[in-house]
Amino acid sequence: MLRLDTANALPFLDEGALDHLRPRVAAAHQTLLNKTGAGNDYLGWRDLLLSPNDALLEDLSATAAAIRQDADVLLCIGIGGSYLGAQAVIQALTPYFQPTTASGFADLFDQDAGRSPEIIFAGHHMSGAYLRDLFSYLEDKSVYINVISKSGTTLEPALAFRFARQWLEAHFDDADRRIIVTTDPSKGALNQLQSERGYKKYEIPPDVGGRFSVLTPVGLLPIAVAGVDIRSLFYGAVAACERLATVKDNPALDYAAIRYQLLQQGYGTEVLATFEPCLNSIGDWWQQLYGESEGKEHKGLYPDSVQYSTDLHSLGQYMQQGRRVLLETFLMTDDDGGDLAIPDSTANLDGLNYLSGRTMSHVNRQAYEGTVRAHTVGGVPNMTLWLDRIAPDPLGEALYFFEHAVAVSGYLLAVNPFDQPGVEAYKKEMFSLLGKP
Ligand code: PA5
Repeated sequence: MLRLDTANALPFLDEGALDHLRPRVAAAHQTLLNKTGAGNDYLGWRDLLLSPNDALLEDLSATAAAIRQDADVLLCIGIGGSYLGAQAVIQALTPYFQPTTASGFADLFDQDAGRSPEIIFAGHHMSGAYLRDLFSYLEDKSVYINVISKSGTTLEPALAFRFARQWLEAHFDDADRRIIVTTDPSKGALNQLQSERGYKKYEIPPDVGGRFSVLTPVGLLPIAVAGVDIRSLFYGAVAACERLATVKDNPALDYAAIRYQLLQQGYGTEVLATFEPCLNSIGDWWQQLYGESEGKEHKGLYPDSVQYSTDLHSLGQYMQQGRRVLLETFLMTDDDGGDLAIPDSTANLDGLNYLSGRTMSHVNRQAYEGTVRAHTVGGVPNMTLWLDRIAPDPLGEALYFFEHAVAVSGYLLAVNPFDQPGVEAYKKEMFSLLGKP
């Protein structure tokens, strides 16, 4: 079960501040549960966990299984909340390196266990060079497309989909069968295309915002195609949703309260740090969730994510001795699956024999412990969220934990955690420069 270690944050809080804050945190939590706060028409991300739709999970798994049988590549087209959750879970739960499943080699792999299409993301930026290289890479591969856009009007995915559709039609007689659309039930340009071409479609519930949509078909279809057990992921989140419904012993409320209090004391930046590269993209997902939910009306912590120990060799100096405005949240696991014993060396020319026989997990853990000690002494309040292991159900728990906490946090800050009015400003300027009619 997920747990939050707050021991290295509490000493930084003003005396009595947390006790003083508790009633407000409980009220914010109740506001979320009772659906009485701002943005209460965007709470579908909780509702779908309170009444799980098993038929949908099965349907998604069946579609994914069919794609897995036939595809070398699933091209996922989407931006922001329409891809970050899938990317995060897939990176966390699939091997670092996988054999290619390019058509010519398919018979080399076990059809059930070994064959996993490569998941490639597109439509999450405007790079023409990326698209050009992508379509050249896709040549001779069996490609399926999942285009994901709730509005159907976001420029980045819309442009990428135009290219991808034309490429697919030029390469496959059954192109329409290879396209799956994930969008709003009725609104947006994708619906028109979908009904004209007969593409398979999954709906994004209208009351679930992009950054909260990882446990809808937005995230679940690509995640299932990558070979992840989406039922375990989903039900991990269901368990967390049940557990975090109480005020007592609620780590999500502790997390929200401590970071809120630290913000009041001038700690304006939160850094989410991982020690396992497969968790990096959770940091990207978290960054959007927290940045878009809190950062409005000139309020909120600035969320940043780092990967240790890599970034200890770049940002470590700032973390240790830069401006003391940082708080740090470590995302750790009790079992990182890295039990790789360090070999002995007869000559010991590299001087590393003092580590012989210990595991890489042990070394990584000492790097974490050492960082925690150093940063605490250096004036960085920190917490650690512990997952039992890197697997679908603990990850589902963690996704819900962060969603629940950010909703409470938004209410503590007195902002609507579910809108993102600021995102429109750049689009307005860009469309005006592009001469959009
Ligand atoms: O969280 C959000 O709402 C955004 O990040 C959206 O997901 C993103 O802008 C993509 O929007 P759409 O799915 O409508 O293309």
